[in-house]
This record gives sequence, C-alpha cells and structure tokens, in this order.
Amino acid sequence: MQITPQLALLLISTVCLVCDVKVGADYIPPARFDGFVYGNMAYDSDTILIEAFFDPVCPDSRDSWPSLKRALTYYGSRVSLVVHLLPLPYHDNAFVASRALHIVNALNSSATFPTLEWFFKHQEKFYGAKTQYLSRASIVDEIVKSVTKVVGASYYSSIKNGFNDRKTDLQTRVSFKYSALRGVYGTPFFYVNGFLLPDTGNAVDYNTWRKVIDPLVGKKSVKNEESLHFFL
Ligand SMILES: *[C@@H]1O[C@H](CO)[C@@H](O)[C@H](O)[C@H]1NC(C)=O
Repeated sequence: MQITPQLALLLISTVCLVCDVKVGADYIPPARFDGFVYGNMAYDSDTILIEAFFDPVCPDSRDSWPSLKRALTYYGSRVSLVVHLLPLPYHDNAFVASRALHIVNALNSSATFPTLEWFFKHQEKFYGAKTQYLSRASIVDEIVKSVTKVVGASYYSSIKNGFNDRKTDLQTRVSFKYSALRGVYGTPFFYVNGFLLPDTGNAVDYNTWRKVIDPLVGKKSVKNEESLHFFL
C-alpha cells in the first residue's frame, strides 16, 4: 500500500482521535456535576432551576447578570441558579478566565460569584487589541494578581499553583463539554427547569424574568394551596 499524503493525514488524525479518547476517558463523566451554585440555595423539586451559561469575558453575559441577580433576590428561595461556563473559542482568554473561576471555586466557593463579577467588570482588559501582543504567561500573571485581590492575599500562591494543576484544566474542559452537550453555542444561554428560554442571545431584562418566572411560581403556590385543602 502506497502512503499518499492523504493517507498519512488520515492515519495521523486517527491516532490523535484515539489519544483524545484516552485522555478524555479519565475525566468524563466528571466526579462532580458541572456548575457553580449561586448563594446558599438548597435545591429541591419545588425550586425553579435557572441554568445560566456564561463566558466571563463575554459582554452579553456581563450585561445580562444584573437583571438576573435582581430576579434571584426577588424570588429568594423559590428560584435557584447554577452557572455553567462556556469559554468561547472566539473570545480572547476565555479559557484562562474560566479556569481562574474553577481555581477560586475550589479554594473558597463563596468567592466564586464575586470573582465572576470582577471578570464582568474588568473583562475589557482581557480581550481585543490591548492583549494581542501579550503572552499567555503575562495574562495568567495578571489574572492571578487581580483575582488574589478579590479572594484575599493569603490565596496568592494557591491561585498561582492552580494554573499548574491539571485538575483545574480538566474541570474547565468539563464545563466546555457540558455546555456543548446541552446544545449551547453562545453566551448567555438560559435554561429554566431544563428547557431553553426562547429569548436567547440578548441580555434578558428583569421584566422578562418576571414574565417567565411569575407564572411558574404562581402554579406552585396553587399546588401548595391544593395540598393544604387536602390536609385540612
Ligand atoms: C471566602 O470568600 C468570602 C467571600 O469573598 C469571604 O467573605 C470569606 O472570608 C472567605 N473565606 C475564607 C476562609 O477565606
């Protein structure tokens, strides 16, 4: 059999595919379900679950967060939020920023959302013309220093070491894969009780959240009244 360039390419890509499957095998399925739970919310089947798919360096994700946060405050324990990360390949430094969130979450999960908010506030430092000549190492360095300010000075070396820990790289890959698995191809995407919110791509405002969630909460209280009558 003659080895043509095409055949060689096919062989190489087959080998790569096999390698990839092997590498993947030790972290898929992951030991923990992907996602960051907002606040101290306990989830049960009566809680309305919002899953938000964010990229920490995405302007639309940033813009959607204040109204979602306001809605979460309004509904309190009736609504839970889990944030999944989708580091988009066309957003500069999205993977590094997402990895920083996994690192912080492992060190102190109460600091995860303040760190996400920090990225939303300062994300412009990490994309576009400003970063095009910066090395990956200098960006990681900048992220380590900045995130340390959010999380606390005593965490500096743990955060820095986190970027050399393969586990945090794998956790970030799991986030990417989980988002892809759910059919998410942009950010922000929102799912409510497992179903995609029809209005995606744009920042969902507070009134939209109320329009979506109010009827669901209403139904729930009707159900509770019914069971109350039953017991009375
Ligand atoms: C964890 O993070 C929260 C929020 O930033 C902070 O209030 C708390 O002191 C931190 N805990 C530790 C042990 O660093």
